Amino acid sequence: MKTSILKYFLALFPATLFLYACQQDELPDPLDTQLERRLRELSPDGSLDYFRLPDSHTELARVPAGIGNPLSPEKIALGRMLFFETGLAEDARHEAGKGTYSCATCHVPSAGFMPGAKQGIADGGVGFGLNGESRGRMNGYGESELDVQGARPLSMLNTAFVTNTTWSGKFGANHANEGTEHAWKEDAEVNELGLDGLESQIIEGTVLHRMRITPGWLDTLGYTDMYDAAFPDFPERERYTRLTTSFALSAYLRSLTTTEAPFQEWVRGEREAMSRQEKAGALVFFTKAGCYRCHKGAAFSSTEFHALGVRDLYESGAFNTGPDDIRNFGRGGFTGLEEDLYKFKVPQLYNMKDSPFYFHGSSRHSLRAVVEYFNAGVPENTRVPQSQISPYFHPLQLTEAEKAALVEFLEHSLYDPNLERFVPDEVLSGNCFPNNDPLSREQLGCE
Ligand code: HEC
Ligand code: HEC
Repeated sequence: MKTSILKYFLALFPATLFLYACQQDELPDPLDTQLERRLRELSPDGSLDYFRLPDSHTELARVPAGIGNPLSPEKIALGRMLFFETGLAEDARHEAGKGTYSCATCHVPSAGFMPGAKQGIADGGVGFGLNGESRGRMNGYGESELDVQGARPLSMLNTAFVTNTTWSGKFGANHANEGTEHAWKEDAEVNELGLDGLESQIIEGTVLHRMRITPGWLDTLGYTDMYDAAFPDFPERERYTRLTTSFALSAYLRSLTTTEAPFQEWVRGEREAMSRQEKAGALVFFTKAGCYRCHKGAAFSSTEFHALGVRDLYESGAFNTGPDDIRNFGRGGFTGLEEDLYKFKVPQLYNMKDSPFYFHGSSRHSLRAVVEYFNAGVPENTRVPQSQISPYFHPLQLTEAEKAALVEFLEHSLYDPNLERFVPDEVLSGNCFPNNDPLSREQLGCE
């Protein structure tokens, strides 16, 4: 009898404590206190600001600008149109491809600015599906004629914090690329201009993606006034070029900060924005799981290169890529240095759940599977020598509860539900976007 009363009391005790805590709503949640303490520890200046993304609408001056490319609302407005403008696709390989694709074909906003598929297909592609997932090859295009790359497109979100672009970091004259001048060949020669990653890459990007950028064509599409407003300092004969187009597109990309994600709200002081499980997940991310060692700062990215030994894109049956694709070699494919082989840039982590193809080779299809991969710590790509694998990639021994919380943190806390604010209502050509081939038009509701 006595023991059962004791048991009863013991069972009730935590519940009483819990009720008591609920009534005292001034009492901070210990998880908030722990998380705040940990984030301050990781912040170089001890302040939570290190984890706070700037709002490009209200604090443009805090958004990192590119060398030679100060940010202005006019440039952002122009870039915001051009990114979706299927009218630029005038240099398509075949007549049927003309005017059918845009940057956003491979960087779909509702798919976290990724393709929503394992590979992006611009020129020579057809269809959109619901979210980019059912794009295929257009009749009349040979496989080698498609505009496809041997790695999954990166997200455009929070690229203001990316100093050297692509998985290999080859674009951009500064930061990680200081001392790599020997490798500035072919498209990377553009680094000679001394610009940052975005501005350099996109000069080449409009060529690679077969977009016509001439004063006459831009005028036909209706963009002359917008270029005039964005680039009043450029003499007229230098105003409608691949350089200014890149500057406008870069300015737009720099404005894509995921400030409405719950983690951002939490950092700004709204402690209710994240659930208790998400906070627990954040703690796993910033402590035991070691994710913070590579995914840093407000964007959870870094211009560091690490090998995790994931599979390459050709292994998932993508177009026009194979074992010898230069992209399989990561940073080493660019620098030519053995020590850089199979190492890839650390990507940002917001809005990952809408394009379920993870890593440069799209080898994982859910965030749960990504977490399992890190937890197991066993490289899956047999070509990558163990000596290249990051010392931070090893078995983590996370419990089921820790894994579940970590997934919750990635799926919800790092998810901005309102990316629509970055998408224009229409583009000046009046075309359908992000795609404009007959099947996409139908699927996008443009017919
Ligand atoms: C055919 C699909 C496709 C199209 C169209 C496309 N991209 Fe990409 N984008 C990619 C792929 C693939 C990568 C990664 C390439 C790599 O790492 O080698 C990428 C990477 C990028 C990056 C680097 C991001 C980072 O964090 O390093 C930027 C910036 C970018 N694209 C901007 C653009 C712009 C602007 C346009 C339009 C002019 C565009 N892209 C059109 C496929 C595409
Ligand atoms: C050793 C550095 C390192 C650590 C530690 C690390 N990551 Fe990463 N992470 C990377 C790199 C590099 C990539 C890209 C690898 C590739 O595709 O080849 C990546 C990719 C990812 C991706 C896929 C992003 C995309 O665009 O496909 C997610 C999600 C992710 N990491 C989450 C995590 C989580 C969660 C943890 C902790 C369990 C973690 N990472 C730990 C370096 C790291």
